[in-house]
Amino acid sequence: MKIAVVGTGYVGLVTGTCFAETGNEVTCVDIDVKKVEKLKNGIIPIYEPGLDILFERNIKAKRLRFTTDLAEGIKEAQIIFLALPTPPGEDGSADLKYILKVSDDLGPLLQDYTVIIDKSTVPVGTAEKVRDRIAKNAKVEFDVVSNPEFLREGVAVEDFMKPDRVVIGTESEKAQKVLTHLYNPLVRQGNPIIFMDERSAEMTKYAANAFLATKITFMNEIANLCEKVGANVDHVRMGIGSDSRIGKRFLFAGIGYGGSCFPKDVQALAKTSEEYNYDFKILQSVMEVNEIQKTKLIPKIKDYFDGALKGKTIAVWGLAFKPYTDDIREAPSLINIKELLEAGAKVKAYDPEAAENVKNIFGNKITLTDGPYSALENADALLIVTEWPLFRTPDFGVVSKLLKNKVIFDGRNLFDIAEMKELGYTYYSIGRET
Ligand code: UGA
Repeated sequence: MKIAVVGTGYVGLVTGTCFAETGNEVTCVDIDVKKVEKLKNGIIPIYEPGLDILFERNIKAKRLRFTTDLAEGIKEAQIIFLALPTPPGEDGSADLKYILKVSDDLGPLLQDYTVIIDKSTVPVGTAEKVRDRIAKNAKVEFDVVSNPEFLREGVAVEDFMKPDRVVIGTESEKAQKVLTHLYNPLVRQGNPIIFMDERSAEMTKYAANAFLATKITFMNEIANLCEKVGANVDHVRMGIGSDSRIGKRFLFAGIGYGGSCFPKDVQALAKTSEEYNYDFKILQSVMEVNEIQKTKLIPKIKDYFDGALKGKTIAVWGLAFKPYTDDIREAPSLINIKELLEAGAKVKAYDPEAAENVKNIFGNKITLTDGPYSALENADALLIVTEWPLFRTPDFGVVSKLLKNKVIFDGRNLFDIAEMKELGYTYYSIGRET
């Protein structure tokens, strides 16, 4: 099939590349001239493990192309994906300006029956708006479908190629047929395509992300309580996670969730509730708790140094909002670094992928090192923010030699408490005894 993908951000690029991989002819469209130039030259502007192999293969096979020209990009396309940003507006609601602008532009360009797909996370009712905008100028039949994406950064290709499920919101049988064909290679293991109306599909995406954010936040609160009552959140996690009604995943307590999705989507769903006069109390708490959770270790660091952080150097391991990405949007590292600097501390940080992005924010206010151990040289303490596997089994002989004090503040519960005690560390983590 011929497919166009409008928007070459995270979701767009992965969608385009993966559908080229299943044999479709894909043209990706973006207004960002520099980005398209890079893509044409074989450079992927994001860090996503495994994407490069598929990208190169499909460019070589001429199944994957890039253009800045919408008319050229969608020519003869049977399916057009809209994978455009929906940033939070000033009031927290999702800003639809990009999607609606492209919808306006698409109408007069359609030449034959086309399925237009909302792939971005968009509030309930957006497919209707997109349809109205296109219909204003369209001379041919078309369908607008909500087909939310559930991929995670860092494992995007795998999530895309082997989705737990594909959600398709449309009651048009014609569109259902086209999409069943398109998704066929990805659902061969019995993972279902779930058809529903478009509003339910739009809601499903927000409900999934808000539920996961709530699940994490619930565990973070359990962890906070564990600390007070002398319980260990790791044991509690295993104790409850083995109940199949709860499930093992997304129960890891830590210093808060970040990224480009959970914070934005929880906020947008809260905003939708407000618009419909529904007081969605849990969402408010999730947002509040997560903000507090992000800096949970800061008071402990301050207490350890008797409130005197001035002149102290804190090593930070991990800057990306999670491992296997260079994404620092809403990353807990940012607020932690900001608070440490405000308290007069110096920061030496290391991240395998995200250092460059953090440099763009803090400039020379912090020192970025090219390895985990060099961040520890002359540091007074270590703060762990992201659970890159590299940090899980460090050489504690080297760590002890480099750190001025044997103290670690671990926001991701990487180490065994008993082992840390044995090694002589003062070890703070989340939801476990210190
Ligand atoms: C999330 C969803 O997991 C995807 O299904 C969804 O498609 C995506 O948002 C989106 O809407 O585009 P992502 O933001 O890439 O994916 O990252 P996650 O792996 O979900 O992690 C989100 C945050 O939760 C990270 O900061 C992570 O550290 C934190 N987390 C995750 C925890 O604190 N504890 C856990 O147990 C799991």
